Amino acid sequence: MKIFIDTANIAQIRDAADMGIIDGVTTNPTLVARENKPFLELIKEICETVDGPISVEAVSQHCDEIVKEAKQLAKINKNVVVKVPLVKEGLKAVRILNKDKILTNVTLCFSVPQALLAAKAGATYVSPFIGRLDDIGHVGMDLIRDIRKVYDNYGIRTQIIVASIRNPLHVIEAAKAGADCATIPYDVLMNLMKHPLTDIGVERFLNDWKKVPKPHGRGR
Ligand code: E4P
Repeated sequence: MKIFIDTANIAQIRDAADMGIIDGVTTNPTLVARENKPFLELIKEICETVDGPISVEAVSQHCDEIVKEAKQLAKINKNVVVKVPLVKEGLKAVRILNKDKILTNVTLCFSVPQALLAAKAGATYVSPFIGRLDDIGHVGMDLIRDIRKVYDNYGIRTQIIVASIRNPLHVIEAAKAGADCATIPYDVLMNLMKHPLTDIGVERFLNDWKKVPKPHGRGR
């Protein structure tokens, strides 16, 4: 499963990239707004930090405007993937962008039929938001399992990005469901690495190491 980091924060992106654990980045207008930086400058900086798919959301409302905006975004860097909302005008735009070989991530997906239509329109990626479904009392991960089944039934190549992830269990379940990618907030990503027995083990080894006789002035 590819791992994307779901943030527009450069320090977080750089930290995760330095660990070699991320394949790409997803942003959205909310995440971008938090950074309080000029938009283009920020996206360019993200593209310079990670060599992988960088999802950037188009905010236009009508097909022709979405296409125009998407083309401008795609010019920023070869890795830019244009996020388009799963609405009628968005799907029309995805169809055109697919023909023009511009990568798309159809976002705000909350149902299997929506995911099927995104694929039919030619989406490169689809982003089902599982945390927001959990928030309203649905089992968000069921949607991932169902989309996986439907896509596999027909050999659909649109990649499923599990989005709106809130905790490590979401990541485990996404991988078990066969998702192509998971986009994960920084805090959840860091929690994936943690285990109390690892911390206890490191501390014990360091304490025991202090008891090992060492030549004067040398580490070993
Ligand atoms: C995905 O592309 C979105 O940026 C993100 O996962 C939305 O997550 P949220 O529901 O926590 O806002």
